[in-house]
Amino acid sequence: MIVQSKTVLITGANRGIGRALVDEALSRGARRVYAGTRQALTHPDERVTPLTLDVTDSAQIRAAAESIESLDVLINNAGLGLYADLSDRAALERHLAVNLFGPYDVTHALLPLLTRSRGAIVNVVSLAALAAVPLDPTYAMSKAAAFSFTQAVRVAAARYGVTVHAVLPGPVDTDMGPQIDIPKASPGSVARAILHAVENGDEDIFPDPISSSVAEGWRNGVAKALEQQFAALAQGEPVTS
Ligand SMILES: NC(=O)c1ccc[n+]([C@@H]2O[C@H](COP(=O)([O-])OP(=O)(O)OC[C@H]3O[C@@H](n4cnc5c(N)ncnc54)[C@H](OP(=O)(O)O)[C@@H]3O)[C@@H](O)[C@H]2O)c1
Repeated sequence: MIVQSKTVLITGANRGIGRALVDEALSRGARRVYAGTRQALTHPDERVTPLTLDVTDSAQIRAAAESIESLDVLINNAGLGLYADLSDRAALERHLAVNLFGPYDVTHALLPLLTRSRGAIVNVVSLAALAAVPLDPTYAMSKAAAFSFTQAVRVAAARYGVTVHAVLPGPVDTDMGPQIDIPKASPGSVARAILHAVENGDEDIFPDPISSSVAEGWRNGVAKALEQQFAALAQGEPVTS
């Protein structure tokens, strides 16, 4: 999926990786960028259309979908990281509301438009989807669930010619990034790597030095092989080992 001349919607577009994705989509020649935010947003580029979009608000999701005529790329980027204790059930529910049900509901609302354009869905998940992170365990649980959703919708949407990409970043230097002294990638470099990989057709995207160190292991590993075997089952194809 080449971004030039395409229409892109990005959730959580006002800061961090989302804001950088808006600028990267513009610099790659996007025709229109819908910037989903909870607070009013202004952007100097006239190709940006602000959309009021709290991903936990079903009325706002419906209104956003109704206001868009066509869409080529949906980027589910909005996310929440509370750094809460494992025993904090309320934090788990908040993480699930934003990080799982948010992309789940936004995707279902926009799938008809993406089907029409044979478009792409890009879910910004996290390396924390692959292994629990003790710093924020209920965040990791929600991202693992969001990754499973991404794999499931990849199979379902393929029937309509829609591709689905998972982004699994390591630490990024944003408000959400871990506040400890470890190397963190810049949001701009991550946004660039994400859209480069989408244009390249990569299914699973590891957009920074830390995540890219596990990319090959993931792509050649048993979990990816199982994902492909299960997907083949859904398509009625014989399973090969
Ligand atoms: N930073 C990292 O180290 C890292 C690593 C791996 C994955 N990620 C993922 O990357 C994505 C972007 O994170 P970031 O680092 O850019 O974080 P960030 O700077 O904290 O930005 C989070 C964005 O999500 C928005 N958001 C939160 N709750 C929302 C809701 N209910 N509805 C709509 N928007 C909502 C925020 O909007 P408000 O300004 O209104 O709060 C903000 O725009 C997230 O999915 C995150 O999990 C980040």
